Amino acid sequence: MSTLAVLTAAGSGARLGHAVPKALVELGGVPLLVHAAQRLCASGVVDALVVTAPPGHVDEVARLVRAAPGIDLPVHVVDGGPTRQASVAAGLRAGLDDRGLVPPAAGEIDVVLVHDAARPLAPTDLVRRVEQAVRAGYRAVVPGLVVTDTVKRVVPAPGGGIDEVAETVDRASLRAVQTPQGFDRDLLERAHAAAAAGGADESSAATDDAGLVEALGETVHVVAGSSAAAKITTGHDLRVAALTLEETA
Ligand code: CTP
Ligand code: MG
Repeated sequence: MSTLAVLTAAGSGARLGHAVPKALVELGGVPLLVHAAQRLCASGVVDALVVTAPPGHVDEVARLVRAAPGIDLPVHVVDGGPTRQASVAAGLRAGLDDRGLVPPAAGEIDVVLVHDAARPLAPTDLVRRVEQAVRAGYRAVVPGLVVTDTVKRVVPAPGGGIDEVAETVDRASLRAVQTPQGFDRDLLERAHAAAAAGGADESSAATDDAGLVEALGETVHVVAGSSAAAKITTGHDLRVAALTLEETA
């Protein structure tokens, strides 16, 4: 039995606004996707890795990942799709259909982790916590952080003007969800097949894989997340990540 990781790295990074796609932007001299791949690999629970590359960058991504210190597992790099959901689907197809990817000794893939290159510093113990929970029988597992802000749901003001608060949400029950997210392989394949059949477009595509599992009516479980797994969206996030890298080095 073995574990496949799908690393999504095909986004453009419009909000970060660099000349190169976000996953290729460097943090401490190392591209974000390489940081993420190294930590997946160092967790010791991943047997094979598929990376979804930005359009036109498949060869470059393959070179970068294979040359990186500490990447000692089979790596397959494929083109991503127009949405994150489409990229994960492409990664799954490549990782699960390619019989050559996982060494036969490791056994068939039964667990899949999906991780965003936009969370380059997700620590190895977080990867293990998610993977081990799936192995323990929880078929869909996400890391989540408690929410420290007070959260309010708003509605547009009747007749225009400044939004109005509809309610204050009980924050004790809220979790801000991260990646890697871990799944029983069959369940994740079923969730993506159902989503594809439903025909999600750019505006309705899911922003995470657990959402697709929830749409099937299946239970998703939450383990403790990590502040180091924060997502990089803006230039400020990148500078914060540089500080995190310094502190965790
Ligand atoms: N992603 C992907 N394929 C896409 C879109 C996104 O593989 N078509 C990946 C990104 O590379 C990233 C993750 O999904 O690792 C989360 O997406 P996000 O943070 O939104 O990254 P970008 O889409 O690159 O950023 P932006 O939305 O600012 O353009
Ligand atoms: Mg995006």
